Amino acid sequence: MSTEEKVASHYTHGSLETAILQTLAENGKDIDNLRLRDLAGVDEFHLGRHAATVEFARDLDLAAGLLLADIGSGLGGPARHFADAYGCTVSGIDLTDEFVQVANSLTARCGLADRVSFRQGSALSLPFESGGFDRTTLIHVGMNIEDKATLFGEIRRILKPGGRFGLYEIMQMREGTLPYPMPWAMTPETSFVRSPAIYRQLLEEAGFVVELEQDRSALAIRLAHEARAKAASAGEGGNPGIRTLMGPRASERSGNVNTSVEAGLLAPIEMIARAV
Ligand SMILES: C[S@@+](CC[C@H](N)C(=O)[O-])C[C@H]1O[C@@H](n2cnc3c(N)ncnc32)[C@H](O)[C@@H]1O
Repeated sequence: MSTEEKVASHYTHGSLETAILQTLAENGKDIDNLRLRDLAGVDEFHLGRHAATVEFARDLDLAAGLLLADIGSGLGGPARHFADAYGCTVSGIDLTDEFVQVANSLTARCGLADRVSFRQGSALSLPFESGGFDRTTLIHVGMNIEDKATLFGEIRRILKPGGRFGLYEIMQMREGTLPYPMPWAMTPETSFVRSPAIYRQLLEEAGFVVELEQDRSALAIRLAHEARAKAASAGEGGNPGIRTLMGPRASERSGNVNTSVEAGLLAPIEMIARAV
């Protein structure tokens, strides 16, 4: 099995749409008339969840009519936010077929299918023409991709000159051994976490100027504490939310990444880079 096949298999659930719709219905949502906010907690798979997406989008200088490609778009929560809050037209691509299908279905249920669509593909060979996009985004995806030089080369290729690439990635902040399983990989075999210095160097070599870099650890830690407190007060019968999405050993995987961020070993880092 190739790394990409292993990664897609890691994220594949098998009956994810049914599980999500059931969770939403149990929480009193009208699944035949879904609103974006009904999906909060189940359609974004990164540290800081929706709050992090909102902050990230503010730094991307988004505007109505801009064409945005979201690489590794998952269930599409960030893509729908860029379209709904800013009026962008968004094309998502993701390796995991089931995520693509569920992303398109949730988008249609929220009435955004005219502006947001998803297709299956690899970030290392993007199914887009050169120079077509004003913005590209990559949110918690690079940890599964070893060849970041090719990844950034592909992202630079599909951007217009002067276009912006926003990335929000988990990076390694100091020497140390990572605990597994992590949310993105059960073992180190499909995990390729790198430092901000390596990201900056590879971005510059691919034809980008890094204009902004921010550490979002404080936000991620605060939200993880809030989520833990909420889960504890709800008890075992509480909203499965993200656990539905994460699959086996969800609590252990969340715990490992949160502990690593709190210890300063890992950090969710945002960078905004301009294509030159
Ligand atoms: C942790 S999830 C993040 C999803 C989404 N960006 C979000 O923030 O909700 C990582 C996603 O990256 C996708 N992915 C990993 N490697 C990829 C690759 N080589 N090409 C395209 N997508 C990839 C996975 O299928 C998965 O959907």
